[in-house]
Amino acid sequence: MTHTHIQVVVFDAYGTLFDVYSIGALAEQLYPSQGAALSVLWRDKQIEYTRLISLSDPAPQGSRHYQSFWDITRASLRYALARLGLVHTQAHEDALMAQYAELSAFPENLGVLQALRQRGVATAILSNGSPEMLQSAVRSAGMSDLLDAVLSVDSVRQFKTTPTSYQMVLDHFGVAPADVLFVSSNGWDALGATWFGFTTLWVNRQGLPAEAIGPAPHHMGRDLGEVLTVLQPL
Ligand code: LAC
Repeated sequence: MTHTHIQVVVFDAYGTLFDVYSIGALAEQLYPSQGAALSVLWRDKQIEYTRLISLSDPAPQGSRHYQSFWDITRASLRYALARLGLVHTQAHEDALMAQYAELSAFPENLGVLQALRQRGVATAILSNGSPEMLQSAVRSAGMSDLLDAVLSVDSVRQFKTTPTSYQMVLDHFGVAPADVLFVSSNGWDALGATWFGFTTLWVNRQGLPAEAIGPAPHHMGRDLGEVLTVLQPL
């Protein structure tokens, strides 16, 4: 199935556009043999906190419990270290957090974004990331000239997968949900976006099992190149 009606391609940030490998690699360097466990627990706790905040007060004008993704990321790192019984030092914490500002793009990404530009399809990020985190990651990955919008849920003070967060895309571009191709490497994000009504592509870079609830995303692939296949023919 291909989609010629797609007007905007919207990407999740961490793990989808930005390669978070360097974070795990540094975690392993700082905590030998615990890097993988630390990265997974850190990420899971980070996402859990976003849900806790959004679910506990889903008011459309923003959650009273809102904290920026940067602060949540730091807090969840502290939790993950404590949970694994690893030593916390301010220097290690700062070094791991600094990785978030220096991420690289996956190798195929810039080519895909350039191809979308040539086709006249608008491109954007919709991320839980706070604006400063996203801006530095976009710069460091060399994507500044290849994105029409970098949308942070910080504007609505609640996190994906709330409808209010996905709605930001429709409000920004003035398009219908099905005319948005939403691309995420996170199965839960692809599912939330499918429920919202976007056309969805799950980029399953890690070869993970599909989510066991909900409808499957409309498309699946192993890297970002799949976006161009979904949009064919010209
Ligand atoms: C984001 C995270 C969830 O960019 O990957 O929103």
